[in-house]
Amino acid sequence: MATVRFDNVTIRYPGAERPSVDSFDLEIADGEFLVLVGPSGCGKSTTLRALAGLEDVEDGSITIDGHDVTRAEPADRDIAMVFQNYALYPHMSVAENMGFSLKLAKLPKRDIEAKVREAADVLGLTPFLDRKPKDLSGGQRQRVAMGRAIVRNPAVFLMDEPLSNLDAKLRVQTRTELAALQRRLGTTTVYVTHDQVEAMTMGDRVAVLRDGVLQQVASPKDLYERPVNAFVAGFIGSPSMNLLAADDPERGRVTLGIRPEHVRPLADGAPQPDGPGVTVIDTEVDLVEELGAESYLYAHRVDSPEVTVVARLGDIPTPARGDRVRLVLDMDRAHWFDAGTGDRLE
Ligand SMILES: Nc1ncnc2c1ncn2[C@@H]1O[C@H](COP(=O)(O)OP(=O)(O)O)[C@@H](O)[C@H]1O
Ligand SMILES: [Mg+2]
Repeated sequence: MATVRFDNVTIRYPGAERPSVDSFDLEIADGEFLVLVGPSGCGKSTTLRALAGLEDVEDGSITIDGHDVTRAEPADRDIAMVFQNYALYPHMSVAENMGFSLKLAKLPKRDIEAKVREAADVLGLTPFLDRKPKDLSGGQRQRVAMGRAIVRNPAVFLMDEPLSNLDAKLRVQTRTELAALQRRLGTTTVYVTHDQVEAMTMGDRVAVLRDGVLQQVASPKDLYERPVNAFVAGFIGSPSMNLLAADDPERGRVTLGIRPEHVRPLADGAPQPDGPGVTVIDTEVDLVEELGAESYLYAHRVDSPEVTVVARLGDIPTPARGDRVRLVLDMDRAHWFDAGTGDRLE
């Protein structure tokens, strides 16, 4: 059990002009599941690897449970890392893979067996302890990689896109299991992913990183409802929030953000709604995306075709490409951002 603290951490790879991680400041609570999310190349792995002691920190400090580990060796940090490619030893059985680090640490054989049995039980791997990795499914291999981390009973789990190698269905199932397992073990966890759905469904809090700079740290709900800037607004949520250029009499050029579920297509012949909280735009349909439980309409404005809008299709009949549809924007749910900086406006 441990807290983790990044204090103004800057990391720059040798010869690089810009730091890959810039003044990263974050405090992670004991037992928390913290997800670090952002587009590819934004510095997630670099941040995690610095916490593991695998990258040099140029400036700032990292503490685990109050101990400054900024310059400590990886082995002295009491962490266990799970990578995307599980890197299991092919010639070793599941049990040997799981117990290998304990063997290296020269634990008595009996203790190793007990810890492996316990972890296998938690992970549902007991029937497979004698198998080789090649005789396991992708999901089972992923669990062996988890088991290898669990047997060490570390202060902190570090996970870098550990579900990326699983097919879509298994990924959804495993992410639920993994989140439940973390909660049961209560071990502080820093989890890296580029997948905002994974971030939103797994994290107690989610930290959004862009170009090495932390944008916002918040609960999934707060992140969705009050993004601090247009980048976070567009990154979190699928389909993405509509971000439309607008003019405000007082503030000048601004960006209007409105989520697809707050844009409502009007049925043919329906009376035009009116009032201060309502804006109606005329659009022409480009595409309808059917997802089963819900569908989304992609359309462009009739008077400015370069402006595209996504709306969740309600219970109106599904329109066809080229149809004209009036869209009602629920302005009470709108977000406003500075057109230049992208910062949220109140
Ligand atoms: N070993 C390295 N040497 C030089 N630059 C690197 C190295 N590893 C990563 N980078 C650069 O640092 C930035 C962040 O990379 P990374 O942390 O791997 O991103 P992410 O995990 O978010 O996809 C990228 O611009 C990447 O090119
Ligand atoms: Mg990465």
